[in-house]
Amino acid sequence: MTLCLSSLSCLSSLSARTLVCLFFFCFTVNGHAEAASPSAVEELVLPRAHARERSGLSGFDPGDPAPHFRVKTLNGEFVYPLTETGNYSVIIHAFTNKSAFLECLWTSNSSLSDLIEFLPVSAEVLILSLDDSAARDVLWMREQVYRVASAKGHRGKEILSRIHFCPIPVYALGNWIPRVLYSWGCGGHNCGLAQAVFTSPDWNLPLITKRLNARYDWLNGRWEKVQYVVVGAGDGCEPFPAAEGAVAWVSESGCSFFTKIKAMADSKAVGVLVYALPGNPIQDMQCAGDECNTTLNIPAAMLHYEPAVAQALSSGKPVNVTFQVTPSPNFFMAIDQQGALAEMGWFLYPTFRFISWQAEWFDFNADLLERVKRPAAVLPVFNNTLMHGEAGAQAVVQLPKDLLGFDVLELDAALSCPGRRDETCAHWDHTVQLFICCDHFSPHCNMELGRWITAFRRGTGRWLTDVSPLLPLLNSERCALVMKTPPWAMPWITSLNLRFSHSNRSGNVSEKLYPFKMMFLYEGGTFDKDYNSRFQEIRFTVPPSTKKVELYAVITGHGSDNNNCGEFCVTSHFFLVNGIHNNSLTFHSPDLPLGCAMRVGEGAVPNEHGTWLYGRAGWCDGLQVDPWRVDLTPQLDLSTSNTILYFGLYEGRNPSPTRDPGYIIILLSSPEGVVLSTSS
Ligand SMILES: *[C@@H]1O[C@H](CO)[C@@H](O)[C@H](O)[C@H]1NC(C)=O
Ligand SMILES: *[C@@H]1O[C@H](CO)[C@@H](O)[C@H](O)[C@H]1NC(C)=O
Ligand SMILES: *[C@@H]1O[C@H](CO)[C@@H](O)[C@H](O)[C@H]1NC(C)=O
Ligand SMILES: *[C@@H]1O[C@H](CO)[C@@H](O)[C@H](O)[C@H]1NC(C)=O
Ligand SMILES: *[C@@H]1O[C@H](CO)[C@@H](O)[C@H](O)[C@H]1NC(C)=O
Ligand SMILES: *[C@@H]1O[C@H](CO)[C@@H](O)[C@H](O)[C@H]1NC(C)=O
Ligand SMILES: *[C@@H]1O[C@H](CO)[C@@H](O)[C@H](O)[C@H]1NC(C)=O
Ligand SMILES: *[C@@H]1O[C@H](CO)[C@@H](O)[C@H](O)[C@H]1NC(C)=O
Ligand SMILES: *[C@@H]1O[C@H](CO)[C@@H](O)[C@H](O)[C@H]1NC(C)=O
Repeated sequence: MTLCLSSLSCLSSLSARTLVCLFFFCFTVNGHAEAASPSAVEELVLPRAHARERSGLSGFDPGDPAPHFRVKTLNGEFVYPLTETGNYSVIIHAFTNKSAFLECLWTSNSSLSDLIEFLPVSAEVLILSLDDSAARDVLWMREQVYRVASAKGHRGKEILSRIHFCPIPVYALGNWIPRVLYSWGCGGHNCGLAQAVFTSPDWNLPLITKRLNARYDWLNGRWEKVQYVVVGAGDGCEPFPAAEGAVAWVSESGCSFFTKIKAMADSKAVGVLVYALPGNPIQDMQCAGDECNTTLNIPAAMLHYEPAVAQALSSGKPVNVTFQVTPSPNFFMAIDQQGALAEMGWFLYPTFRFISWQAEWFDFNADLLERVKRPAAVLPVFNNTLMHGEAGAQAVVQLPKDLLGFDVLELDAALSCPGRRDETCAHWDHTVQLFICCDHFSPHCNMELGRWITAFRRGTGRWLTDVSPLLPLLNSERCALVMKTPPWAMPWITSLNLRFSHSNRSGNVSEKLYPFKMMFLYEGGTFDKDYNSRFQEIRFTVPPSTKKVELYAVITGHGSDNNNCGEFCVTSHFFLVNGIHNNSLTFHSPDLPLGCAMRVGEGAVPNEHGTWLYGRAGWCDGLQVDPWRVDLTPQLDLSTSNTILYFGLYEGRNPSPTRDPGYIIILLSSPEGVVLSTSS
């Protein structure tokens, strides 16, 4: 966390007001850069991203404009672009019943409910089928939506008007859509065809059937690339010693998925295949309630009943099984509100909610593009600059001369990947920090100006962060900026603009407050039993002519001790002012399974290739870390000295982990550009 007090004062003298007016004329221009001199812009050209590679078929990469098209649907024609103007995105989904994941997506009540309940009003959905059975498939899919929509009243009806079912198979569309679905194809992560391959000595051919692995969050096992022996174990609800060392073949009936898999794990089975009873769809195997407190360590998958397997097993014939994923065309693509092709990321489990999250992010992004058009003096710092290794991304910039007149500083930051597809993106989530040094002799040289956490393998993040109280850091004409992730992280391509502007308060210039001085308070550290002993009470006096004093803190928790602290535990941070005012910030989000998914509307990158959904301590994957600001003025005596003391608690107590203590990043200044933070 960056933690500092920032004092704001009134520019109330006549000359100051004149100055501010001047700024309005010089720097409040529409949208784009006026602020930096050309030479300053050239200086920041450090390693540029390599020319981006095309993925085979040119003109159809993410970000390329979507050509117009029209397709036949069950209700006439779907024409892109739509004739009505307005903000809309188009989600294109290609179904195939060869995928157990898609079968479950389209049969699960909760998945279909999620579609009706959460699809943003801006999203149009075009449903296709990859197979010969397209005409039948889409009638069936429409029926599935009808069934759930009719129970949801008006909202259901409205949504149906935005879901378009095309009875022509993808291979017969005769437009560019198949080209994108085929060339963006995929082979894993619930895209691609996950299969079980059964063999038995009496069969000429292997029996290959679709499977859906149990949900990722409660089973730790993975299928290995080996032959497993299959043993029939009834409904699997009771221990079955003969399953030892084998994959148990069990029916879905009799008890919960958890009970079965636990009974089989207790019998030392090495995996479990649960078959749906004839006529039933494949389900997403989950745990429920207290079951979820126990992690099981074997893999499990659900599939359809296979009479040949059952027969061979019951007549004592050996049956083996292996697991494979056959690549397929992509099941999802989108056209964003700007008319560009976009990837849809990873669907962690079968629910339409992932479509909604992506569409919600398109709304966020459209709004962001509007916000960056607002008047501001824009100073480009990085423009598709490579950020990698110890050096990170570096630039030296020339600041606008009359900076004093601005009371708002925003960071407009974006991270993309070395290639145009998400598959070229860095795999892990890491902390990204931006440091600034404008005066080498200042104790604030290389203080943190902004913090973000990278997305798991998605390259679409862009965020606007208001860091106005840090304006006093920019106290010279030339500033050096460094943006870094841990040096071992895979590269990102970064873009950053500093946006200087005027706040929109009442329009009365003389009432505006300008941050003019800051005081550095605390940095974090290892979140262990000694955590709070590091922090001493700090005494300070408020400079004369100060009108307002703010506390500014950027706090994130990382690591995983026995209580999952600091990333996945609920911590509180207290700032005790003058011994009586207890200002506190509590991170409740780590308790929430969808704590970060709920922040897609604020810019959290959706559908990442990792567990981005869970809430975390003060941060989310693929999001900026928002500064926490508190107006302390009423708590202070402006004429004499005041005190402040920080302490951080886990569940209301001092932290006392028994192993692997996590850490809290409070302030991070970075002397000599050495990065102090590590991964998350
Ligand atoms: C589109 O969205 C932007 C940003 O949210 C908004 O300013 C604009 O009015 C919208 N346009 C229409 C036609 O809805
Ligand atoms: C999908 O396939 C399963 C068997 O693999 C079958 O039971 C089901 O009826 C099929 N659904 C559709 C819509 O074709
Ligand atoms: C899904 O909903 C339908 C009707 O609302 C109901 O008949 C069916 O039993 C539900 N299926 C499951 C698996 O809950
Ligand atoms: C079945 O798998 C077992 C265990 O990997 C192996 O020993 C056996 O040879 C396999 N049987 C066949 C017919 O491949
Ligand atoms: C399971 O975990 C939840 C949430 O942590 C807790 O409330 C519940 O008591 C636990 N149940 C058991 C049986 O341990
Ligand atoms: C970034 O560089 C590209 C290509 O050189 C240029 O077209 C674009 O205007 C630059 N963007 C900014 C914000 O300077
Ligand atoms: C400024 O405030 C007015 C009134 O609250 C609002 O209508 C306007 O959109 C705001 N302008 C900006 C650029 O935020
Ligand atoms: C602007 O603020 C000053 C100082 O508070 C006040 O005297 C003046 O009346 C205000 N003007 C308007 C137009 O509100
Ligand atoms: C501030 O609140 C925390 C948590 O409720 C408490 O532990 C602490 O004693 C409080 N401090 C004061 C001075 O009120």
